[in-house]
Amino acid sequence: MSDGGYEHLFDEIGYSRKIFKEEAVLFPDYVPSYLPHRDSQMRDLVNFFRVSLESPGKVSQKVLCSGRVGVGKTAVTKLFSSIFTKEASGRFGLKFKSISIDCRKERTLYSVLQSIISSLDPYQPYKGFSARDIHRMVLEHLENDNSYLLLVLDEVDYLIDASGSDAVYELTRDERGSGRMNFIFISRSPALMGRLDESTKSTLLHNQVIFPPYSAAELRDILMQRVPQAFQRGAVDDEVVTQAASLGASSGGDARLALELLWRAGKRAEAEGRSAVTPEDVRVVFGDIEGVPNEEELLSLPTQSAVTLLAVARALISAGKERIATGEAEKEYLTVCEEYGIEPRAHTAFWEGIQSLKGLGFLSTEVKVERKGRTTMIGMNYSAVGLQKVLEGLLKRGAERDEQPPID
Ligand SMILES: Nc1ncnc2c1ncn2[C@@H]1O[C@H](COP(=O)(O)OP(=O)(O)O)[C@@H](O)[C@H]1O
Ligand SMILES: [Mg+2]
Repeated sequence: MSDGGYEHLFDEIGYSRKIFKEEAVLFPDYVPSYLPHRDSQMRDLVNFFRVSLESPGKVSQKVLCSGRVGVGKTAVTKLFSSIFTKEASGRFGLKFKSISIDCRKERTLYSVLQSIISSLDPYQPYKGFSARDIHRMVLEHLENDNSYLLLVLDEVDYLIDASGSDAVYELTRDERGSGRMNFIFISRSPALMGRLDESTKSTLLHNQVIFPPYSAAELRDILMQRVPQAFQRGAVDDEVVTQAASLGASSGGDARLALELLWRAGKRAEAEGRSAVTPEDVRVVFGDIEGVPNEEELLSLPTQSAVTLLAVARALISAGKERIATGEAEKEYLTVCEEYGIEPRAHTAFWEGIQSLKGLGFLSTEVKVERKGRTTMIGMNYSAVGLQKVLEGLLKRGAERDEQPPID
């Protein structure tokens, strides 16, 4: 192939990068060795599975981990499984193997069992055997090997959706009373319990580990833990992390989203050849993922709200920050009112305007307690630059309309 002119695109690969040190640290399947704000879930799991170490084979333990998307269910369970199997052998001389099945991929009892047997014993032929046969093979293998299994059924709802609750019932049935199979079910649906058989349900009612959504402060800690590994020094500051954390918190306390925002914001800064990520990068990529407000939505705003929103956007852009103080926003508001020939509202009305924009999801507020007193800080859930552009267009058109002489 002749030189077509694209080769230079590869020039920078392998050279030092301005933004990232190790991107993969931000990817969803990377599990750090410590998970901030999940100590109590980790402790719960240890307590529930204590019996499997103290009296191995006495009970087949079953535990349910539940919570919304991105709250650490998979990460905590992965970390727990790996520590648990290590401690089982190191401290208790027990052979524990853990297998995690993603039920989004394995949606039938048969394919779940197939994954288990081929992971326990790659040489065991299972083709042509029924689910019940394979189940027996699994149990026999564990008995012959004198080992135990911790089976994680991640996103178990998919298995139940596709194969009914019978699949779970069959899988957990311990006909031989061997107590060698133990289970962690992971679900994000509060309706799961209602779909299980009575016996599994009554066990799981007592064995639940709840994963609440993360707060903005918790997400900050989670992001902060990875920044030094993922980014070059100075590429990501506090404002950037706080912006990603607050958007993650407002979208259901989702750590997966917060990490993705940080990663994509980094990609954006890198693509533009900058050496630092900005809060605006985070807001822009959030818009790419979650959608931006369309013109229609903005058009339906009363003029005062549009002016207020524009003022916040401009103030954020010129400050280059995640949030600005109410005072800064109000100062900008007066300037914008003057620019468009609009009578400014008094402080209280301005403040109510901020609250209503918050209610509509455009803005977020946070009270900062300092030595001089309390200040309300205002942040934005969309690209400030993007909103500025659209709002300026709308307000300009509105002003032109108003200038036309009345028809009658
Ligand atoms: N407490 C935590 N500390 C560090 N990273 C976390 C924490 N909780 C979640 N994460 C990360 O956030 C992402 C989503 O978590 P995950 O466990 O997949 O959520 P879920 O399974 O509840 O949807 C993963 O990349 C995970 O590593
Ligand atoms: Mg998960």
